[in-house]
Amino acid sequence: MIPVVDIFAGPGGLNEGFSSIRDSDGKRVFNTVLSIEMESSAVKTLTLRAAHRFLTDRPGGQPQIYRDYLAQDVTYEEMRASAEVADAFSHAETEVRQFELSEVSRPESDELIRKALPAGQEWVLIGGPPCQAYSLAGRSRRKHDETFKDDHKHFLYREYLHIITEFRPAVFVMENVKGMLSSKNGDGKIFELIEQDLREPGYDLHSMVVSSDTGELKPTDFIIKSEQYGIPQKRHRVIIVGLRRDAQLPAPKVLEPREPVTVHDAIWSLPRLRSGISRRPQSTWEDWAAIRNQAHSFLRAVAGKERASAPDPYKLNTKSTSVRPAERFDKASAAGELQAWLRNDAAPATWNHEARGHMIEDLERYYLLASLVKADGLSPKVRSLPTAHWPKHNNINNLVVPFEDRFRVQVWGKPSSTVVSHIAKDGHYYIHPDPEQMRSLTVREAARLQTFPDNYVFLGNRTQQYTQVGNAVPPLLAAKIAERIAEVLV
Ligand SMILES: C[S@@+](CC[C@H](N)C(=O)[O-])C[C@H]1O[C@@H](n2cnc3c(N)ncnc32)[C@H](O)[C@@H]1O
Repeated sequence: MIPVVDIFAGPGGLNEGFSSIRDSDGKRVFNTVLSIEMESSAVKTLTLRAAHRFLTDRPGGQPQIYRDYLAQDVTYEEMRASAEVADAFSHAETEVRQFELSEVSRPESDELIRKALPAGQEWVLIGGPPCQAYSLAGRSRRKHDETFKDDHKHFLYREYLHIITEFRPAVFVMENVKGMLSSKNGDGKIFELIEQDLREPGYDLHSMVVSSDTGELKPTDFIIKSEQYGIPQKRHRVIIVGLRRDAQLPAPKVLEPREPVTVHDAIWSLPRLRSGISRRPQSTWEDWAAIRNQAHSFLRAVAGKERASAPDPYKLNTKSTSVRPAERFDKASAAGELQAWLRNDAAPATWNHEARGHMIEDLERYYLLASLVKADGLSPKVRSLPTAHWPKHNNINNLVVPFEDRFRVQVWGKPSSTVVSHIAKDGHYYIHPDPEQMRSLTVREAARLQTFPDNYVFLGNRTQQYTQVGNAVPPLLAAKIAERIAEVLV
């Protein structure tokens, strides 16, 4: 197995892709030897997932207590206390380290990496430094810039470079936001500097979507538009693959474009839920149905008579652990590939699928906006609603209205917009397409749009779970990249 070190690991999206690759005998090709992450809830999620892999691979498979946990018949603590999973968690706790990478802690992280890497084996570094502060990191012209000195995020980039230079992986896969291609100073040079930094220790850089055979790569050639590769989400991220020159590896093949997959393909088969009502924890379905009926009368006023009759509100709960059958898609289609990926080794219960509470005015807005999605599949703007339904905010009458775009219905027939960690703060941008559910997306729905398999359990409180999901590289995309890296290394 090829060792993998995952740094700035988040909840492990990139790692999940690498871990999923199997050879023709069904054995895993990559073996994560170390995941470094500083945030405690993400560390819990990573640890559980590492234990999950260990238990799944163990001769005899997952023990009953773990299957009971996945079925939500026993609690995490009960499962964790069982001797049957002790070896899995002690393995996982060696693999996953809660640790803050920094210049100061460098001796310790170097030691962790040194210990984790088997001697004499080529290995892969995955993960990207989370920062927009590349702006000329560590360059002399910034030395006297006080604001730059205070912004210690740029050190993370230096840590990344340090690990490459010191430990010389055969391959690195670096993910980042598009902002890394452009400097804050607007001098357009930032990418050249990053390229220079990464090439200097002896690496050639490759894009996963534009072949290096076509000549010199432009900065934008490194952007992967996820929705073009079978991911049900518009997510545009920079992925740079570095190959150590003296390892003389062939350039990885580029990813194969796929037809679009949609929000429907990703989340339709999850149980329906109703939202909660903010500040009314004791509220009942009847309270909720009354709000829905009121919202429907507003809709009649907005959209006219044809909306006169509405079905009775669904009798729904705010949470469900039940599992609905997968949809049948042609296996060869991108939607079929996605379903197979999400449902592979499916858990016997649906995880992380609980609706949040919303203010009554927001519930009404969600109902109206989701009902008014047009045939063109565009989410209506909040200002297309009667003013009574506009959010009360000083800026609403400004011509440039920041929150004009704060409300968005994720429409059934298209890939979703980018799932970002802001989803943890409010759900306005992630309104469920079914008006009758009158709510924003759950953690599980966001996780499906991010292509986390259904048996991927997120730990921590709900806000932390949303943040984890929004931070990740879509595992299915990561798997496609990992497959290309495996072809190069095996
Ligand atoms: C964008 S996320 C990584 C996502 C991950 N690659 C995935 O696919 O799931 C960046 C992560 O880096 C972590 N992080 C930020 N600064 C860090 C540091 N100095 N040391 C360790 N982890 C750090 C954050 O907590 C966050 O979870």
